[in-house]
Amino acid sequence: MSCSIRSFGLRRAVPSRGLAVVLALGLAVAFSPRPVRAQECPIPTRTAILLVAFGTSVPEARQSFQNIEDKARAAFPGRELRWAYTSHILRKKLAAEGETLPTVEETLDTLAHNGYAQVAVQSLQVVPGEEFHKVVAAVNSRASRFDRVALGQPLMAGTDDLKRLAEVLPACIPAQRKPSETVLFMGHGTAHPAGVFYPALEYFLERSDTKMHVATVEGVPSLDDAVAVLKKAKARTVWLVPLMSVAGDHAVNDMAGSGDGSWVNVLARAGITAKPVLKGLGQCGPVSDLWIEHLGQALAALDQAERPKHVKKDN
Ligand code: CO
Repeated sequence: MSCSIRSFGLRRAVPSRGLAVVLALGLAVAFSPRPVRAQECPIPTRTAILLVAFGTSVPEARQSFQNIEDKARAAFPGRELRWAYTSHILRKKLAAEGETLPTVEETLDTLAHNGYAQVAVQSLQVVPGEEFHKVVAAVNSRASRFDRVALGQPLMAGTDDLKRLAEVLPACIPAQRKPSETVLFMGHGTAHPAGVFYPALEYFLERSDTKMHVATVEGVPSLDDAVAVLKKAKARTVWLVPLMSVAGDHAVNDMAGSGDGSWVNVLARAGITAKPVLKGLGQCGPVSDLWIEHLGQALAALDQAERPKHVKKDN
């Protein structure tokens, strides 16, 4: 007897059997398998990739997203790839300009409607802070519409990530930087407990180069913290490199802008010449590779969870 392949349109997860949803980061959100009949072997699955970013209103910054998308397509050819964005402020702003930024919920609904049974969601956040947890909540709210959903980790989610990132970040510094010159990576920062990843990254960076530092717009270390360190070290020239997926509003205005409070001007008043770099981490190959690796882990988690679902024919 041959296997009967059912139409994808009929594949809807049955959120039954006690809804044993496990959202382990990087692991599949596994529902108890649907009751399966014999003669369905192996079960066809349609897996999509969903990339999730905060969003940006700076057109040039979108190159970061494009680069990450190109890398994802190259690494996982043939997979359906969609985008979603977490920023409601940007959604409103861009809607006024006629552009639609879909939410995670909307994109997952569309994928379910299109018959996708599995989704690997990759967060392009830098730390597992508030934005990332919004993604977790959105994914949980739609998990019952799929057989499985796996969520990839943000850029820094543990000590191994920190070590790897510290190794590859120097590749994002322009080649013109002289060894005597200081580098200050500009992170977003957050009051969320995940804000500790920024000083932790600085710890690992300084182990290889004592002239590399981290400061954040909204958390610790602050720019003031960094200025105190730079003054003590008698730094004259500081390269400013965004530690964000895109060189968006924070990089263009808070870092390199003409306002009194911009990092460039704050440093100038401290007698330090700043050289801002307007490129996001998505434009830095070795760093975007780390996000793609996390996406690979999410896809692998789906594949592993899938294996026991292959059903034997009971001739
Ligand atoms: Co912000």
